[in-house]
Amino acid sequence: MSQFLSNCTADAMLDAAARLKAGDLVAFPTETVYGLGADASNSQAVARIYSVKGRPTDHPLIVHIASIDRVGNWAREVPEYAIALARSFWPGPMTLIFKRSESAGDFITGGQDSVGVRVPDHVVARALLEAFERVGGVGVAAPSANRFGHVSPTTATAVIEELGDYLSKDDLVLDGGACDVGIESTIIDCTGAAPSVLRPGAISIAMIEDCTGLKTTQNDKEIRVSGSLENHYAPVATVLLRSNAIAGQGLIAHSSTDTPEGVIRLASPGDDEEFARILYSALREADAQGLKEVVVIEPLGIGIAVAIRDRLTRAANGR
Ligand code: TXA
Ligand code: MG
Repeated sequence: MSQFLSNCTADAMLDAAARLKAGDLVAFPTETVYGLGADASNSQAVARIYSVKGRPTDHPLIVHIASIDRVGNWAREVPEYAIALARSFWPGPMTLIFKRSESAGDFITGGQDSVGVRVPDHVVARALLEAFERVGGVGVAAPSANRFGHVSPTTATAVIEELGDYLSKDDLVLDGGACDVGIESTIIDCTGAAPSVLRPGAISIAMIEDCTGLKTTQNDKEIRVSGSLENHYAPVATVLLRSNAIAGQGLIAHSSTDTPEGVIRLASPGDDEEFARILYSALREADAQGLKEVVVIEPLGIGIAVAIRDRLTRAANGR
């Protein structure tokens, strides 16, 4: 069992950074979901991420950095349009994929020639990354802090539920409250002539195209993105889309949707942003209540609704 820390003072962040440097794991909040961090330069520490998550070792990890200045440490080629994206949306819910530098070992990239990099926007994440730099670190590799294929955690309690049995006593879980965005970052491949969205998120295609003046291309490459597996992000309960909820089933839908008699209402978000923010905790609640089925009425429209529908389609394919 790991240690749990909810008082994230400057001293506590230095201690957390020292643990990372020593090869221990630190789970930390970001604005999207909680991540399970390790020193991105330490192959043994990173190997522990894979065993704690139960994740296949050929699935690459995102390197989290304190600021845009550190990109050059991990990437060997950064196109103009990627600089524009980084300037507009970092710190924020966006991961950029670059051709990797020599610092990005096979143990981070799953043996691919590219590396994912992100500057997260959360006070605790930023304090941790800055403290890690002060002890000589250059980046923190972190996947979402859940077992492979499960729903990502958006609270520290959910991290403990997912990984508590697998972490050891020197590992740390930082509690920074509930995540603001609630679903994982937009992943943009920046290795080609134009940006290509590999995973939709809060940074939408329209925002990317407005920022870069370029048309985004489709993901037609053989890149391994575990978040793109068809049955990812799934709770134990069966997720039903485009279906009418009946008694005994759970229901997640916009607040304008009524709750039929006998249906267990799990969440009533007022808009798409709130839908994203509460979605994963509502799916966890379905499991906590032991529900067999949960009906989700998907939000229509563009923007973050695209990312919500992406995750729900995968969740509906089950574990
Ligand atoms: O919001 C997020 O992105 C969260 C927080 C913790 O930062 N992280 C996250 O990590 O969702 P993870 O590992 O659960 O999902 C990251 C996805 C994976 O599907 C991985 O395959 C993909 O990013 N990825 C990482 N590096 C890549 C690369 N070099 N090329 C293609 N895909 C990559
Ligand atoms: Mg994940």
